[in-house]
Amino acid sequence: MGTNVLEVRNVTKSFGKLLAVNRLSFEVKKGSILGIAGPNGAGKTTLFNVISGIYPCEGSIMFADKDISGQKPYTISRLGIARTFQFPAVFSSLSVYKNIEIGAYYGGGYTKADIDEKVCSVMDYLDIRDRADLIIEDLPLYDKKMVMLGAALATDPEIIMLDEPLGGLSPREIQMSSDIFKKINGDLGVTLIIIEHLMKYLIALSDEMLILNEGQKIYFGSPEEVVNDDYVIKVYLGEDHEHA
Ligand SMILES: Nc1ncnc2c1ncn2[C@@H]1O[C@H](COP(=O)(O)OP(=O)(O)OP(=O)(O)O)[C@@H](O)[C@H]1O
Ligand SMILES: [Mg+2]
Repeated sequence: MGTNVLEVRNVTKSFGKLLAVNRLSFEVKKGSILGIAGPNGAGKTTLFNVISGIYPCEGSIMFADKDISGQKPYTISRLGIARTFQFPAVFSSLSVYKNIEIGAYYGGGYTKADIDEKVCSVMDYLDIRDRADLIIEDLPLYDKKMVMLGAALATDPEIIMLDEPLGGLSPREIQMSSDIFKKINGDLGVTLIIIEHLMKYLIALSDEMLILNEGQKIYFGSPEEVVNDDYVIKVYLGEDHEHA
């Protein structure tokens, strides 16, 4: 079995009386793809916000033997954890190139001399170089999502956390995105943690799956078995779910 790149230990994040993440523990194997699903409000995005340092939390988050809980977002980014957002978080009035360049600066380690090479290589990798000079607000959702992914990739991450990367896309765009995620994972060895409601596609991508409900883990294990889990069916999938 591979080593763990991330260990979430007994993590709790509350908003007033609401326990958005409740004593949650799980591990992510280096080089794997972990899929996360669960009902609306289950705490999925809050978990990403806690791991990426946007919110403080109780408990510990170990990233390759280092406790990163309580660190600032830019520190966590520089250590090697990047993310995308559920609602495209891009600089809308700037170009594709500029957005990815900002990611590269944020992730650190680049001089002015080699930043152009980095940005161009990321745009080539995601096949968006022909849109380098276009302004983000004029672009379709798929391109916006690719730019967010590009900004994350430009930080040279060990882990990328993707928050609902497939939502709102056409079947063809979903397939293209899934192929890119597999390539980033397989070729570059980047560990991926993917939140997604589209279970069919998430199951196809994931090595392991975590299902959350009311901030707690209700399932962790194989993607194939998740659709047969009685409790997951009861609180999330429903009896008549389609997953094939
Ligand atoms: N900044 C905040 N202040 C107060 N409550 C919050 C905040 N962020 C999230 N919450 C609450 O925490 C709970 C978990 O929200 P979260 O966004 O993590 O859910 P989610 O699993 O990502 O849901 P979805 O599938 O709809 O994206 C919800 O009840 C939400 O209203
Ligand atoms: Mg969410």
